[in-house]
Amino acid sequence: MPVEAVTTASIDRAAAALRAGRLVAFPTETVYGLGADASNARAVAEVFAAKGRPRFNPLIVHVPDLAAAALLAELGENGRRLAASFWPGALTLVLPRRADSGIAELTSAGLSSLAVRVPAHPVAGALLRAAGRPIAAPSANRSGHVSPTTAAHVAADLGERVALILDGGPTRLGLESTVVDVSGPTPVILRLGAITRADLVAALGRPLAFVGEVPSRPASPGMLARHYAPATPLRLEAREVLSGEALLAFGEPEPPHTGPALNLSRSGDLSEAAANLFACLRSLDGAGARGIAVMPIPQQGLGEAINDRLQRAARPE
Ligand code: TXA
Ligand code: MG
Repeated sequence: MPVEAVTTASIDRAAAALRAGRLVAFPTETVYGLGADASNARAVAEVFAAKGRPRFNPLIVHVPDLAAAALLAELGENGRRLAASFWPGALTLVLPRRADSGIAELTSAGLSSLAVRVPAHPVAGALLRAAGRPIAAPSANRSGHVSPTTAAHVAADLGERVALILDGGPTRLGLESTVVDVSGPTPVILRLGAITRADLVAALGRPLAFVGEVPSRPASPGMLARHYAPATPLRLEAREVLSGEALLAFGEPEPPHTGPALNLSRSGDLSEAAANLFACLRSLDGAGARGIAVMPIPQQGLGEAINDRLQRAARPE
């Protein structure tokens, strides 16, 4: 069982595992997180595989302090005000991502925004400092299960998938962080959590809308985050490349083509394909082709999430 008591040595081992691209579960004041190096697309793909998520939801990036957050994203005035009131703490800010953030596209599911949080838990803080890089972490449960508030919950759900679980005891809040999108002119609450709407209103000095109350933003769970959609039309399950099309290949052999082409994984590895997906789409979208022919991806394991995103990208909402 990979559960380890918190010591300087176990934190150092956990930080080394994260830097090596492995997964580590760690306590925060809200719930336990399933951490991966946010700059390592392969490690982030393993998070989705371990959770058994049929979709790529964008993940929260955890950093030790405000200065580290400012290297990744533009805080803006609303962001600074909320960060000053609640960080470290149970508030996640959705912010415009900086071009030089170094965060993998898969971490934010291809979006131009980034969700960032500075957790208020001494073990999380020590781990983030020891790792020395931003850590992407969803709640450390399998998809469809409730968020874990003890190391034993994590071990029961994900024990075989993680390098180690740091046991920081039961989490203090037991409820996920509140997510506020401050990337636009009007702050919008995307998820209510440990910090209440009244707390936010007091800090901002103005009312805040919840996502369901904004007519232009539907509240169905899958829509809480906007999806990345390329402007170039996608043609899925393509077995040949038509004239003027770019090719997004998977495995080998590739169909004959003359235009721009990228391969999600030559060896047909779904985890490698997931890691490359958003960066490849973005790059082919900018290639000036009239369409993108996407080869079939097997509907198994991470292939399900890849196909979900491709289908959404093929018919933009
Ligand atoms: O308390 C918490 O927030 C825990 C601990 C581990 O930090 N984490 C957590 O992560 O609950 P997760 O993946 O279960 O939930 C992340 C939420 C989702 O609702 C997701 O849609 C939203 O944050 N989110 C992440 N990035 C986003 C983005 N760029 N735009 C909009 N929403 C985003
Ligand atoms: Mg969750």
